[in-house]
Amino acid sequence: MRTFKLKKKDIITPYFVVGGKDVKRPIRSMPGIYHFSVDNLIKDIRSARGIEEVLLFGVSKTKNDTASAAYHEFGLIQKAIRAIKKEFKNLKVVTDVCLCAYTSHGHCRILKKGKQKAKLAVDKKATLETLAKIAVSHARAGADFVAPSAVMDGQVAVIRHALDCEGFKSTKILAYSAKYASNFYGPFREALNSSPKFGDRTSYQLDPRNTDRGLAKIEEDIKEGADLVMVKPALAYLDILYKAKKKFKTPIAAFSVSGEYTMIKKLADGDSAKEKELVLEALTSMKRAGADRIITYFGKEVIKWLG
Ligand code: PBG
Ligand code: ZN
Repeated sequence: MRTFKLKKKDIITPYFVVGGKDVKRPIRSMPGIYHFSVDNLIKDIRSARGIEEVLLFGVSKTKNDTASAAYHEFGLIQKAIRAIKKEFKNLKVVTDVCLCAYTSHGHCRILKKGKQKAKLAVDKKATLETLAKIAVSHARAGADFVAPSAVMDGQVAVIRHALDCEGFKSTKILAYSAKYASNFYGPFREALNSSPKFGDRTSYQLDPRNTDRGLAKIEEDIKEGADLVMVKPALAYLDILYKAKKKFKTPIAAFSVSGEYTMIKKLADGDSAKEKELVLEALTSMKRAGADRIITYFGKEVIKWLG
């Protein structure tokens, strides 16, 4: 008989980082989750005793066509990483590497004028170069893992190459490999103010009706040098997680996304005992399916519960 147990080291807790000082602003779409300025981020991590690993998302006010705020040496995330590393020597930092919070249009890629009039096309070269610049700037600030999430073909290889060239061979890559076009991202997009201004992301995120693409993407990312691959969302995609775990040796992370968080929050309706049972049951299903790591907005609570 095999039983599955959650462990503290499985858990990665996401944080949303904003500019300014002394900011702790509730996110309306995600009750219990906040926008933190760097000073308050440090305070919150300190109060969440036992937390071992965080995933940082930048919530940028500066947005433009080149997403340049994303790779500024003293940008939001770069400052946050430096502050965390100064304060907590053993805390592992993972950073989301994407453009959607930094582009004026809210897409995860750089766009250029297309062949057809009035239609924009993806500038693949500029997108990959920008992702590499972001990853290197995070590594320079001290990130342990960079997590490219733009779903751009070749992003893992380009980032691996850039990190190696700049002397960051030990910085690892968590690839958002099997990233489905999901309605469970809704609350996050409000949290990040990153909904595309036009169009949507279904052209580059995966079609939920298809399994093979997800597995193929995971395989590609492993070949390109990913140290950890991801299936996202988690709950509605446990079959993908299970199949990937059977097929590949590389460790796999499950991202239990914002909609999964709010779904449980709503169901528990303020009853904390019920909430705990729901969260542990849901996360255990991810372990059963094969997740080596779990990214969950309940991270701080889970760490507490596991003692
Ligand atoms: C985009 C990104 C998304 C999430 C993390 N990075 C989804 C999207 O808007 O396409 C979703 C996370 C969540 O819902 O918790 N790069
Ligand atoms: Zn994005």
